[in-house]
Amino acid sequence: MNETITESPPEAVATLQLSVVVPTFNERDNVTTLFRRLETALAGLTWEVIFVDDNSPDLTWDVVRGLARQDSRVRCIRRIGRRGLSGACIEGILASSAPCAAVIDADLQHDETQLPKMLSLLDGGAADLVVGSRYIEGGSADGFNKQRAGASAIATEVAKRVLGVRIADPMSGFFMIRRDRFEELAPQLSTQGFKILLDLIATARGNLRVKEIPYSFGSRLHGESKLDSMVALDFLGLVLAKLTRDVVSLRFLLFATVGSIGLLVHFAALYALLEALGLSFPQAQAYAALCAMSSNFVLNNFLTYRDQRLKRFAIVRGLLLFYLVCSVGLLANVGVAFSVYDKQPIWWLAGAAGALMGVVWNYAMSGLFVWRKR
Ligand code: GDD
Ligand code: MN
Repeated sequence: MNETITESPPEAVATLQLSVVVPTFNERDNVTTLFRRLETALAGLTWEVIFVDDNSPDLTWDVVRGLARQDSRVRCIRRIGRRGLSGACIEGILASSAPCAAVIDADLQHDETQLPKMLSLLDGGAADLVVGSRYIEGGSADGFNKQRAGASAIATEVAKRVLGVRIADPMSGFFMIRRDRFEELAPQLSTQGFKILLDLIATARGNLRVKEIPYSFGSRLHGESKLDSMVALDFLGLVLAKLTRDVVSLRFLLFATVGSIGLLVHFAALYALLEALGLSFPQAQAYAALCAMSSNFVLNNFLTYRDQRLKRFAIVRGLLLFYLVCSVGLLANVGVAFSVYDKQPIWWLAGAAGALMGVVWNYAMSGLFVWRKR
């Protein structure tokens, strides 16, 4: 009995050609229109669209689920307790299985009619990555106001000069990439911030064949932009990380800077409490420390951990935990300083060793307990 069973392939199911990834935060009024436009633009191709929503308060994810119930080409990833454009795009692309993945904004500022052209460039083997560019012949950025246009121009210049990126529009949020190439680079990408394209190109260090095609960056359909002036910090962080091959983390630098500001707050408060209120030194010192810790907490919540900002009741809990972490940090600081001074009685060396111990401890423990990832 040597009968061979040949499995017949399933009824000609067209293989998936393209996954379109759409990061969303508060875009409930835009997602349906975008889906309809994708249907028109991608007619004749086999595709899917993956919305990656960071638990939008306006329930965008719920609208997407409604679309998905009617059309199996629509998928929805709802992320809870996380924020970030880059992280959302990475997660969406990794959740896809088509050979090519595109990233496009939900607000219709990008031009979805370019997608078939982008796909044919990748399919034809002409490139690994196709970028929708505003800054080459035929492209434009009319959707920007003066400030945004200026900021975009500066960031683009910095990216080119500092990171040696060669393309005209590395800040674009509209691109398509071969998924196998993306998968190779994904472990080194930063999930923080919003500059995923720049990150991809900088991380690839020239090992990615990039092609740019022009498009016009239009105006937002509904809702408002999620990018505020703080994105400058994210950008700086990415440049720093790429320059130092991920050795320097912007978060730690911010945390240490906030700590130094705390030192100034401490001295100012100490002076005021002693001179103006006439408190005894131990009392004044204790209140000054409390002031410094509180201002450090507020600044860290606002800057260092802006993507995980504590709100409402979580602030009280976080503040109390932060006091606790810093108190133990102070003990560690003094302990290390004493033992260094014991061996080498050089005051500044012992002081610096203690301070370093304190800030590293506070940073590590704050990340674990106060602003921990849910
Ligand atoms: N999941 C998720 N999480 N999506 C987000 C987040 C987030 O934290 N922040 C923004 N988005 C989504 C928005 O809902 C939108 O679909 C898309 O990402 C772009 O966000 P916008 O708020 O519309 O950004 P923009 O128009 O100011 O900036 C765009 O153009 C820039 C060009 O300079 C983006 O494409 C930028 O990436 C791009 O650099
Ligand atoms: Mn937009």
